[in-house]
Amino acid sequence: MHTDAERTLADTLESHGQGHVLRYADSLSPADHKAFHAQLASIDLPLVSRLVKGGAEAKVDYAAARPAPYVALGSPVGAARAHGEALLRAGKVAVFTVAGGQGTRLGWKGPKGTFPATVVTGKPLFRVFAEQIAAAEKRYGRSLPWYIMTSPLNSADTRAFFRDNNWFGRNPADTFLFEQGTMPSITFDGKLILETPASLALNPDGHGGAIRALHASGALEDMQARGVEHMSYFQVDNPMVRIADPVFLGLHASGDGSSGEMSSKMVAKRDAAEKVGVFCEVDGKTVVIEYSDMPPELTNSLDAQGKLRFNAGSIAIHAISVAFMQRLTQGDFALPFHRAKKKVPYWCDNQRKTVEPAEPNAIKFEAFVFDALGIAGKSLVMETSRTEEFAPLKNATGEDSPAWSHQIQSNRNGDWLEKFGVKIPRKPNGDVDARIEIAAETALEPDDLADIALPREIKSGEEVLL
Ligand code: UD1
Repeated sequence: MHTDAERTLADTLESHGQGHVLRYADSLSPADHKAFHAQLASIDLPLVSRLVKGGAEAKVDYAAARPAPYVALGSPVGAARAHGEALLRAGKVAVFTVAGGQGTRLGWKGPKGTFPATVVTGKPLFRVFAEQIAAAEKRYGRSLPWYIMTSPLNSADTRAFFRDNNWFGRNPADTFLFEQGTMPSITFDGKLILETPASLALNPDGHGGAIRALHASGALEDMQARGVEHMSYFQVDNPMVRIADPVFLGLHASGDGSSGEMSSKMVAKRDAAEKVGVFCEVDGKTVVIEYSDMPPELTNSLDAQGKLRFNAGSIAIHAISVAFMQRLTQGDFALPFHRAKKKVPYWCDNQRKTVEPAEPNAIKFEAFVFDALGIAGKSLVMETSRTEEFAPLKNATGEDSPAWSHQIQSNRNGDWLEKFGVKIPRKPNGDVDARIEIAAETALEPDDLADIALPREIKSGEEVLL
């Protein structure tokens, strides 16, 4: 360490009990030294120290949690659709996808958005969304700017994928890729971890990092300059999401039972064990309690009819106002962090190499965007049908796997076709016994099939692309 800045940084690290990370500093090449110094200088050490002591973390009064109220499936929605369509026609809606995570559970090496998702043509997730956005743009006669949050783990690959696919025919000026921030992982006794002698182990700061990243990247400003008022938010893993759903946007922005700041969609949970966050009401506020945080006695609690009491599963689809996000980026507001024990590769002094641990060895801190619900004004939750809108790609096999998602896609498409008199083959459990894909260009909603020439019957095992 030579410069004043380096000496000050060394002292600061020491005073936060993190001086050990400099143990190789004197043997680094000048370039490594400089890069490592810059990385260390970007770490919020007071925040790390607060987290080590258990501060700045998400805390919920579980004893006060009640099931959150919601607009049940099939409820009358009044003028919501017309209101949402007017917003879309006026160019007041943008699309926002969070895609900074790793597809570890799915076993996919690239960005999750590059995963082949559809049941017949295997279109990658990003293409599925791009086509749906294009169809909505055509319908409403306005461009829908698309903001995509990536992370340092996948931003270069994501950008290359868009470039290689000619931006899926979109105007690149209406497609805004930006990177979320990172947080350092720590050992169970609160120490920063060296991944190499010249770098710390960092992880993306969770989709809650979106709030800061939307601001820092200029995305919020860009939305404002375009006159965008609301974002249609969803996660990259759900090929069935109904992007910019006019009914949902209309309910969200109507001012009737909703502040228009942040609204959410839910489905009834499959069973108690399903790994979805749950909408609860705590002290009069609608919040999501994440499955990994929810005490088992709440997860498994039954009502008088023997049904799951906390049944409102979050499908991570929101409508969020630009003004609300702007409000949150004023001053020093920050979302709390959630901690998770994870396997984090670390530099092993004895072996002189980076080692992949066999067991969790570290704590990762992530912020969750849905924690903003607790700060929003009156927040609306709308129930939707699982078959219509939720078939996420999370696991390589079993529940929420590609095969699982494909079945739901075919089921939804079979339901849509049946509505127009097409004979659909069914398995004994009611699942559609064929592989059916409907492109967004063909139909965004079932009624769009009304003007299309449809087959009279689909045969068992048939592959159909419309
Ligand atoms: C998530 C939700 C859960 C919800 C379920 C519905 C969280 C913490 N939980 O669970 O409440 O019921 O989806 O499918 O989100 N991401 C980033 N940056 C990050 C981390 C994640 O952009 O730093 C993105 C991922 O790319 C993905 C999404 O966030 O699109 C979800 O992340 P994941 O960690 O897979 O959440 P789940 O456990 O599936």
